[in-house]
Amino acid sequence: MPAHPAGPRHAEVLHEAGAPPVPSDLAALAPGVWSAGLSRDADGSLALRGTPLAALGRAYGTPALLLDEADVRARMSAWREAFAGADVYYAGKAFLCLAMARWVAEEGLGLDVCTGGELELAVRAGFDPARITMHGNNKSDAELARALELEVGRIVVDSSDEIERLAMLTAGSGRRQRVLVRATVGVEAHTHEFVATAHEDQKFGFSVSSGSAEQAVAAVLAVPGLELVGIHSHIGSQIFDTSAFEVSAHRVLDLLARIRDVHGLALPEVDLGGGLGIAYVAGDDPMTPAQIATRLRSIVEREAAGHSLPLPRLTVEPGRAVIGPAVLTLYEVGTVKPLDLDGGLRRTYVSVDGGMSDNVRTALYDADYTCTLANRASDAAPTLTRVVGKHCESGDIVVRDAWLPADVRPGDLLAVAATGAYCRSMASNYNFLPRPPVVSVAADGSHRLLVRRETTDDLLATDLG
Ligand code: LLP
Repeated sequence: MPAHPAGPRHAEVLHEAGAPPVPSDLAALAPGVWSAGLSRDADGSLALRGTPLAALGRAYGTPALLLDEADVRARMSAWREAFAGADVYYAGKAFLCLAMARWVAEEGLGLDVCTGGELELAVRAGFDPARITMHGNNKSDAELARALELEVGRIVVDSSDEIERLAMLTAGSGRRQRVLVRATVGVEAHTHEFVATAHEDQKFGFSVSSGSAEQAVAAVLAVPGLELVGIHSHIGSQIFDTSAFEVSAHRVLDLLARIRDVHGLALPEVDLGGGLGIAYVAGDDPMTPAQIATRLRSIVEREAAGHSLPLPRLTVEPGRAVIGPAVLTLYEVGTVKPLDLDGGLRRTYVSVDGGMSDNVRTALYDADYTCTLANRASDAAPTLTRVVGKHCESGDIVVRDAWLPADVRPGDLLAVAATGAYCRSMASNYNFLPRPPVVSVAADGSHRLLVRRETTDDLLATDLG
């Protein structure tokens, strides 16, 4: 994923622009970036639903992921309401644990899983398999067999091999598994930009432009154990611009029209995947679920009418936009190292007690984050700061450029915003670090562990010596 093209990225630019005042409230810091339950107390420290982050840090240790339960539930219900009459499947790859799966069910969303592991977690959470969509470009026989055994609602078929294997696995079962064909529509979207190309050079799905999506449809229709219900398309992640969805919906509905013409069959479902962006830094201005719903509905309605097709039922699969903003990561500051660099640039390296093992997105995607001092107020001058982790490599950066008060010192707490999506789910044990806990804070400020911190024994449990 490319960096934000418009974001306040480069230290040199920030330096020349001069330091902003140290923000005294979160709205000034970065509107829309923090979860709704975060506030700054009169003494300048941060609290989540009224519970001081410092108290949560003492209770659960750091680093810790602090989840604002009311915020994530409100996001889920906003998606469900905005897409009334359509379906919202939460993309579990963004973040999944047993409690999260239960909240998804309670808030009336379906669940998108993409491995057997995510599927088992959903089952153990008691999630209704009929409300699960199974994805994956390389599903194993065991994963497919388990999905069929559980009678999951939809399997999104991704390759010809998979269609053949599903034909074998369903033969003689007397049951028909509902499937969608994943179409590669030649659109790739990230943040503010997208490209629409004629060829599709990637591992997912069946290309529309080459005709292989139509061949896949014919192949699925020939399998007695499969019921083709629609077409699926997912075009990218952290998208701010609906024009990419417009091109995608156009190509998917074109395909539906060709399927109707060739097979005399109007497929009833269109799944446009996930991808709606969130605010990571000031200036990011994502759409609300209501805005994206209005837009997507009108695109699908227009395209269906243009082809004289009955209106298909729409599905979306948001991940990041459901969980991302509802979580922050709390770190403790360790070493602080001010550096004088060429050109008069002064940058302070603030090391925290986690890093690329709990948030690999900065290292991997050059992602931007917002952070702030969490345990106290400071009126020290803002200084250009790089927040780095404790891993043994220099690319271990959590927040590339931040203005933090010059008196940040060991023992301070830092909060990094919007770490709910693709942080815990992509966490590792690099350098033998235990993965951090996930703590939920309820609307009344009470808190509980959803996922405990790993121990050294956990890390050694699979090592047979
Ligand atoms: N549906 C499908 C088929 C997907 O592949 C994905 C994400 C989603 C839905 C959810 O997309 P979302 O609404 O969360 O953008 N690790 C990367 C993101 C990878 C997204 C993969 N697929 C990151 O940290 O930015």
